[in-house]
Amino acid sequence: MSLLVLGIETSCDETGVALYHESRGLLSNQLYSQIALHQTYGGVVPELASRDHLRIIRALSEKAIEQIKQASLGWQDINAIAYTQGPGLIGALLVGACFAKALSFATQIPAIGIHHLEGHLVSAMLDKNPPQFPFLALLVSGGHTMLIEAKALGNYKIIGQTLDDAAGEAFDKIAKMLGLPYPGGPALAKLAENGQARFTLPRPMLNKPNLDFSFSGLKTAAFNLIQKLPQPLSLETKADIAYAAQAAIVEILLKKTFRALSKTQAEQLVIVGGVSANQHLRTEIEQFKAQHPQPLSIYFPAPQFCTDNGAMIAMAGFMRLKTFGPSCLDTSFAVKPYAQSQNF
Ligand code: KG4
Ligand code: ZN
Repeated sequence: MSLLVLGIETSCDETGVALYHESRGLLSNQLYSQIALHQTYGGVVPELASRDHLRIIRALSEKAIEQIKQASLGWQDINAIAYTQGPGLIGALLVGACFAKALSFATQIPAIGIHHLEGHLVSAMLDKNPPQFPFLALLVSGGHTMLIEAKALGNYKIIGQTLDDAAGEAFDKIAKMLGLPYPGGPALAKLAENGQARFTLPRPMLNKPNLDFSFSGLKTAAFNLIQKLPQPLSLETKADIAYAAQAAIVEILLKKTFRALSKTQAEQLVIVGGVSANQHLRTEIEQFKAQHPQPLSIYFPAPQFCTDNGAMIAMAGFMRLKTFGPSCLDTSFAVKPYAQSQNF
């Protein structure tokens, strides 16, 4: 019999509820973004995020269940309730975890706590042409920048990571300096489309042979550049700065990634997380691929699965249940806001 898994994501500012079916694929993918709520403050306000998850999560779940009813399925067909256990904002995580656990007690459907980064890692598996383990992953989000050797489900080795800011954070902070609205990444990318190669920003750590990243120096360099220019900045100048910032971030990410590919001899590369939605990154990678000596298949999630969503959590829950059986089910209750380990 095919497995059906409910996925719940509430680690930051997106409430996601989805249902993934083993043979029929994604049957529902409900997403509510809190962007408008946080925009006034220029970033996510944790307490407001928790309250908004709480306000919306039940209605979103009811919508998801309505959708599977149309496919002649219901609660009785769900094998597990997967929810994001961490890392993330503690209050936001608690809303999703408590909701999942309450559903679990009420319905007697077991729950599975999922590591948010594993959710991102398997988000590319929602595609019709998914990657297979083992692969090398570049995970680039608002909170993380990592190169990961993904050997098998649950068997991950972090071989490089940021020593300070994440790539998405660099996008967001430089966007803020340019007066762009939150979230800055997509706004900066859009502005950069009209920019020219007028400024050059540094590429920190590129001359170091390791696979780690650093973006804080780039952020400071962007700040110093902005300070030196005549104020207020014209739209044209802002676009040129956005162009320079995006070019620097993308070049750092891709050079380190291709260094990691040479080291690991991986034949599949999977790029996931919010920043993987970046069009410049997706275009530039083709040039790198053309110069790469080994055969290489590159996988990106569909844009709606790059940023946080419930579908990737449902997929991770499904894969865990399929691979590990009942041993992966929750035996206790915990959220892990700072969870970090080699194996997630
Ligand atoms: O994966 P995600 O939704 O949340 C975390 O787990 O952190 O990633 C959000 C990050 C934000 O920093 C956002 O600015 C960035 O992804 N982002 C982008 C783009 N879309 C989202 N950065 C650059 N270009 C984009 N198109
Ligand atoms: Zn995320």
